[in-house]
Amino acid sequence: MRISSEPATTEAPLGPLDPPPATKDTDVKSAGRRALVVGASSGIGAALVRRLAAEGYRVAVLARRVDKLDSLARECQPLPGKVVVRVHDVCDVGDVPKVFEELVRELGGLDFYIFAAGIMPNVGRHEYDTEKDLAMLRINLDGCIAWSNPVANYFRTQRSGTIIGISSVAGERGRKGSPVYGTSKAAMNHYLEALRNRLAEADVHVCTIKPGYVATAMTEGMGLSDMITADEAAKQILEAARDRVNHRYVPMKWRLIMAVVRSIPSFLFRRLNI
Ligand SMILES: NC(=O)c1ccc[n+]([C@@H]2O[C@H](COP(=O)([O-])OP(=O)(O)OC[C@H]3O[C@@H](n4cnc5c(N)ncnc54)[C@H](OP(=O)(O)O)[C@@H]3O)[C@@H](O)[C@H]2O)c1
Repeated sequence: MRISSEPATTEAPLGPLDPPPATKDTDVKSAGRRALVVGASSGIGAALVRRLAAEGYRVAVLARRVDKLDSLARECQPLPGKVVVRVHDVCDVGDVPKVFEELVRELGGLDFYIFAAGIMPNVGRHEYDTEKDLAMLRINLDGCIAWSNPVANYFRTQRSGTIIGISSVAGERGRKGSPVYGTSKAAMNHYLEALRNRLAEADVHVCTIKPGYVATAMTEGMGLSDMITADEAAKQILEAARDRVNHRYVPMKWRLIMAVVRSIPSFLFRRLNI
């Protein structure tokens, strides 16, 4: 069975959960497609689920808050797709292969996977809290790797599939306001790029999304202006996947903003309150 995170270097005989025959049809709009969204209970992940369900996807939705997942599933009931709820904490990395296998079985395969789980706790100006920092890495980075590895191996043997990682513009400079959040996103960018390069020969696409400011629970009360809605972000994320771009800023104006931010010399950047 090749759905688990077994080493990717040897070929094994096909088992009952092996992917269906390869297809070149990677159009994410196709009805009857199967998707899995980790971090689906609110914000960008939930908005992606609504859009995928509206397009006729069978979507497995994972997060810790069962009430939010259940109400999302109820909300999607009139839509053509189907939502499968699974309560899961991405910190339970040992459970991932089994949960993944069960969900792929329930969905009848997998074509589309999104890792949207993440936290960004407030970090005080003079706070250096290792426990808090490592807890963030366990969700944002370890969780992403623990989920993306088995998906990558499954898509590799299937020779099709789309992987989307929701990173952030925060991964591009070492901002004093959020050292470890930015670290988790920078590492995610690196990991996703490597996955993209590994999987290219199998025709599996890996898309890194770098959102700017999106109005979700994560940004609530932060006093940010000019935010886009989670639904608008979801729309642009799906467009990026359809365009098969390697990475995309969402909204796209952040491409220009980040080009400027990256060009600020260190001696000036450290004086900025960002
Ligand atoms: N909003 C922005 O402006 C912005 C900007 C750049 C990047 N991002 C990124 O976008 C992604 C989505 O964030 P959002 O803005 O949509 O915020 P959000 O509404 O707070 O959503 C975060 C999601 O992550 C899930 N999650 C957190 N910890 C988890 C865990 N241990 N196990 C499983 N799921 C977990 C949450 O579900 P439960 O709490 O139910 O587990 C929730 O579904 C994050 O990776 C974030 O870093 C957001």
